[in-house]
Amino acid sequence: MFVLVNLKTYPCDPVAVAEAVRDVNENTDARLAVAPQAAHLERVAETGAETWAQHVDPIEHGSNTGHTLAESVADAGAAGTLINHSEQRLKLADIDGSVQAAERAGLETVVCANNPAQIGAVAALGPDAVAVEPPELIGTGTPVSQADPDVVEDAVDAAESVDDSVSVLCGAGISTGDDVVAAGDLGSEGVLLASGVAKADDPTAALEDLVDPL
Ligand code: G3P
Repeated sequence: MFVLVNLKTYPCDPVAVAEAVRDVNENTDARLAVAPQAAHLERVAETGAETWAQHVDPIEHGSNTGHTLAESVADAGAAGTLINHSEQRLKLADIDGSVQAAERAGLETVVCANNPAQIGAVAALGPDAVAVEPPELIGTGTPVSQADPDVVEDAVDAAESVDDSVSVLCGAGISTGDDVVAAGDLGSEGVLLASGVAKADDPTAALEDLVDPL
């Protein structure tokens, strides 16, 4: 299972969480990665943890003040990027442009979507993976894999019917190993989570709990 920890703009220490991700990753069969804010990418990547960006823009080098260039994210040490997170929504044409920009820069891509219909649409753009996250469950601590299992199974079916090489992750409210196991049982190949680790008093213990049953 892929466990991707999005730090959003939570007031955690990104380097400390990244060190926890790196250390826990060494003792599990799961694959762990961390997505800090863009300004923290380089420091986080230097820890040796697999590092992801939270967003890249559909742009190239040039006149794009304030945008995030995929090549700069890759230069900072990122291995991949989220695109179209529920808190950074893009139009379909811009999702397409961001996927292309990420691929041009050699970044792996996870495109987020709110529901199975959107999952089908973004899977058609050829990302490496998609992540279904019902917005109403984000940050609630109520796991999508238990609160709305149908949305995960339907997202897996939607992605498979478009392109069966696209992996499906799920997210929202995931915080325990049982939640991760439930996600896997529904056909998900990984989880995308934030508050369960970024807001934990002890991120290492939170990560160990997440991967313990795997
Ligand atoms: O990107 C992950 C996210 O939106 C889910 O957040 O806090 O419910 O794990 P959370």
